[in-house]
Amino acid sequence: MADLGTTRRRLAEARRQRGLWATAALGVEEAFGRLRHGSASGGTAAGAARAADATNDAERLETTSFRTLRRTLAAVPADVRGTGFVDLGCGRGRVLRAAVDRGYAPVVGVERDAAVAADARSVVGGRAEVVEADAATFPLPDHAGVIFLSNPFGPSTLAAVMAALEASQRRGPRPLVVVYVNPVHRALVEAAGFRPVWQDADAVVLRRDSVQNWNAF
Ligand SMILES: C[S@@+](CC[C@H](N)C(=O)[O-])C[C@H]1O[C@@H](n2cnc3c(N)ncnc32)[C@H](O)[C@@H]1O
Repeated sequence: MADLGTTRRRLAEARRQRGLWATAALGVEEAFGRLRHGSASGGTAAGAARAADATNDAERLETTSFRTLRRTLAAVPADVRGTGFVDLGCGRGRVLRAAVDRGYAPVVGVERDAAVAADARSVVGGRAEVVEADAATFPLPDHAGVIFLSNPFGPSTLAAVMAALEASQRRGPRPLVVVYVNPVHRALVEAAGFRPVWQDADAVVLRRDSVQNWNAF
């Protein structure tokens, strides 16, 4: 039911912002996406997800629309497609499943809410790893080329994630891409040397080729 609530709210927002045709297109894409994925990958958890974590700045569960998912993943630069993919704050696994379908490997989701992480595990069915952990302290794997963030947390956790990304990129030099949906704290990601390669009203895709280049500025 929560999933239907999210869809209704999104459709109402889209109708206000983009008009009737864009709303109809969003609704059709959401319906087809659910047919492919099943509805279990979506949903919201009103307020409940604000349990204690290291920095206590978690956002509530809200699932990325299939439209935004399609557009952002299509905007990932070709040279990092198919690399390791990590969704920090993976919710019920919709993004993980989309990443697996697009050939990313390995695909890892990190989710601090145990019940939500269990839902994600059943959605991905063993094709991605779902770790129940706090993103602020999660040791980022050095295979990761794409980090997906759908406004999962506030600036304290994001700052910890940026530090972990820097350490990981120093250990394993490689281009890193951050896909940031509803990028409320985008300035923090840019301050860490990531530069936008694509953006629309809902999301931004940013890239940093190396820590050395960034530090040289
Ligand atoms: C906005 S939802 C996004 C879900 C999914 N990534 C998507 O795009 O559909 C954010 C999720 O991040 C989780 N979360 C928030 N803070 C977290 C943290 N510090 N560590 C791990 N997960 C966190 C929440 O429990 C919630 O499920």
